[in-house]
Amino acid sequence: MQSKDSIKKLRDIHLSPSFSLSYNEPLHIVKGQGQYLYDADGNQYLDAVNNIQHVGHCHPKIVEAAASQYQKLNTNTRYLDETIVNYAQALTQKLPDGLDVCFFTNSGSESNDLALRLARHFTSSKETIVLDGAYHGHLISLIEISPYKHNGPGGQGAPDYVHAVPMPDPFRGKYRGADAGSAYAQEVKNILDKIHNSGKQVSAFIAESIMGCGGQLIPPADFFSDAFQLVRDAGGLCIADEVQIGFGRMGDHYWGFETQDVTPDIVTLGKSMGNGHPLSAVVTTREIADRFNNGMEYFNSIGGNPVSCAVGQAVLTVIEEEKLQHNALEVGDTLKSLLTKLKQKYAIIGDVRGNGLFLGIELVKDRKTLEPAAAEADHIVNEMKEKWILLSTDGPDHNVIKVKPPMVFSRDNALSLVKSLDNILSFPGSDLE
Ligand SMILES: Cc1ncc(COP(=O)(O)O)c(C=O)c1O
Repeated sequence: MQSKDSIKKLRDIHLSPSFSLSYNEPLHIVKGQGQYLYDADGNQYLDAVNNIQHVGHCHPKIVEAAASQYQKLNTNTRYLDETIVNYAQALTQKLPDGLDVCFFTNSGSESNDLALRLARHFTSSKETIVLDGAYHGHLISLIEISPYKHNGPGGQGAPDYVHAVPMPDPFRGKYRGADAGSAYAQEVKNILDKIHNSGKQVSAFIAESIMGCGGQLIPPADFFSDAFQLVRDAGGLCIADEVQIGFGRMGDHYWGFETQDVTPDIVTLGKSMGNGHPLSAVVTTREIADRFNNGMEYFNSIGGNPVSCAVGQAVLTVIEEEKLQHNALEVGDTLKSLLTKLKQKYAIIGDVRGNGLFLGIELVKDRKTLEPAAAEADHIVNEMKEKWILLSTDGPDHNVIKVKPPMVFSRDNALSLVKSLDNILSFPGSDLE
């Protein structure tokens, strides 16, 4: 096996410097199983952050589905193929009535780009409303609509067709308290008025119902239902980016948008959909799909091939067979209540939030000023790694510790995560105490 140093050297020579490595001392992971990762020295790590390996690392049923379909056939969507259509049927059965038509792609970015195309085609407009702090992917079109990137290091700001609503953050955001939802929705109304007054028309409102890179943010009540209504009244489409939050992770609901009591016109999927295999999709209504069908073929060389669809079908099956949505609910609730107890013990924990197995721990230097504690969050994540637990940070100020493990995460895993965190926070002499 190659040494860490030699891998690092090759990486420095042959991989773009724009890639990043996790942790101050990077890990050399060689094996994965369930919710665990193993390094080259045989150490076991509890993976509390990889939401892509949704049903667990190297799940045998996913491996078997891919291998057996690979042995039979791998072509594309230009042939009649039962694996593809049966998967499309199974997937749309999990979505609300009306969201019946699939486009298959290879990444969340590709899905969001295609969703924008559908909306632009349907509305003959490009004006796009986004949430501040949002991330929707790495293509040019998506950097343009992702404040997380275009307002971050190296970014060049938003183009004039992109309009950002302040992050609907009830903890540290512009509006807090009982009326925050309608106050944020009013910001959407202001943007719509601005678009209208400039003689233009809105194309789409795209958002994650629970923001991931925004810091595992649960929006205030009624924000989404009011915003969707306003956008639709103005002739725009609503796109739900479910790339991080779908497939039962929310515990009480299968999809993130269901937690906000809204039904989008277009849903974009990715990440967990293929448990790490590059499978993603856009699902929309017959009307929107038909309008898009203007003579230009939608062809995707790899997207929706029979191997990918066999993998996707196996993911859906394992979620059901192993009752992973229920596990996300039970374990997620236990974890959230234990973390909330830690919040009572340590002032640095300003907020514990999230749904199911998609939780955020926001660290602040002071509970009154809510000044973000980013260096402390980074320190804790590195210390947790020393205790064999993998986490990461996010949010616009990088002060939110993200917990979004494979859905097989157990109650015992939750207990050991909280115990280790408690241990780090209470360490004598620690400035985190
Ligand atoms: C909410 C959201 N949308 C889209 C994407 C882009 O997905 P991909 O990296 O598969 O292109 C991501 C990736 O992190 C994401 O978090």
